[in-house]
Amino acid sequence: MVIKPMIRSNMCMNAHPEGCEKEVLDQISYVSSQPSFQGPKNVLVIGASTGYGLASRIVAAFGAGANTFGVSFEREPSAKRTGTMGYYSNETLEHEAKAKGLIAESINGDAFSHEVKAETAEKVKSLMGKVDLVVYSLASPVRKDPDSDTTFRSVLKPIGQTYTAKSINPQTGEISETSIEPANEDEIEQTVRVMGGDDWKLWIEALKNADVLTDDVTTIAYSYIGPDVTKAVYRDGTIGQAKAHLENTALELNDRLKTGGGRAYVSVNKALVTRASAVIPVVPLYLALLFKIMKEKNLHEGCIEQMYRMFTSRLYSNSPETDEKGRIRMDDWELKQEVQDEVNALWPRVNSDNINELGDLEAYNRDFLKLHGFGRDDVDYEADIDTQLRL
Ligand code: NAI
Repeated sequence: MVIKPMIRSNMCMNAHPEGCEKEVLDQISYVSSQPSFQGPKNVLVIGASTGYGLASRIVAAFGAGANTFGVSFEREPSAKRTGTMGYYSNETLEHEAKAKGLIAESINGDAFSHEVKAETAEKVKSLMGKVDLVVYSLASPVRKDPDSDTTFRSVLKPIGQTYTAKSINPQTGEISETSIEPANEDEIEQTVRVMGGDDWKLWIEALKNADVLTDDVTTIAYSYIGPDVTKAVYRDGTIGQAKAHLENTALELNDRLKTGGGRAYVSVNKALVTRASAVIPVVPLYLALLFKIMKEKNLHEGCIEQMYRMFTSRLYSNSPETDEKGRIRMDDWELKQEVQDEVNALWPRVNSDNINELGDLEAYNRDFLKLHGFGRDDVDYEADIDTQLRL
């Protein structure tokens, strides 16, 4: 079939197999063009198919020569419908890693369930024995609690007061004011149950009980803080509560693992276009301004550059530099004073007429399309292609 992007409410409902394959090959080429490093040997990535998890897996495999096992929740293609981009990313990555003689396998299923944890532990044991790095990079709007069968739903809302700010429709470039009502206690609680550290802790316990962690295992999860313009809805909002919980879980896990020489970290990453961030109000407009400023200052990074820098200059350096809360700070360039001063100066001025002059909406939209394998110059989007990859 001929595959064109189907976009609804800032979400792309389909993916282009060949474009997704090329996106992963580009990330692999980037890592392969950088110096290799002494890093992990056997890695489990939970949330491995897109965004930061995918980039972490690529850096571990192609930068440090690690065997990798990925857990993700993606739709397989059928004759009439494409798979999701993460499906094609997994296929491509595993094909390329195996060609290099590395172990690269995965499970497609609900990472929040006990069953997927048990199946992962069993497969990891038979394939690699033990893992020395566990990356936790899930982003999900819902989580079914495996013990009570309750389904928790996360919301992106401010706490305490209504949040009113500019927001953009990235497809049309129209900027308008949006207001979001504050969350109630139940919504805050449910968001923490989905995106906080509960599930990360359950994973580490399950893997430890199954004896598939090395004594000196490292585990890392990803967080975000962000700028003043998104503070009320992000860091001071419901998701910020969940991130604070995740960060506290890192401290708790670190205490537990350090007796055997292990460690647990949270890395605070830069805001980037991923499936998860595209649906956060205000973020697309912020990114359109931020990208232009960071590119002008030669500070711009994508997921793969961020993760390569994180692995080489922090996680696998002699002693990772952390902030006062023990967090690795990969948002150091995004939050540079000179960058944020410019964001703050542009924010009150930006409107539907000047967005293309003050910001780089085109780059935002290109990155968004590329996430799903669209918008590349080297793919013929008029060609009739199969929904399966031919690797
Ligand atoms: P993403 O949406 O690109 O990736 C999410 C991954 O989780 C995918 O592999 C997906 O298959 C998997 N997943 C979701 N639900 C699942 C389930 N029930 N079972 C198994 N797998 C499931 O997300 P992104 O943006 O890479 O986020 C990863 C982490 O990084 C999140 O904690 C996020 O808050 C954090 N982060 C993201 C930033 C951004 O700007 N995108 C900035 C800083 C941190």
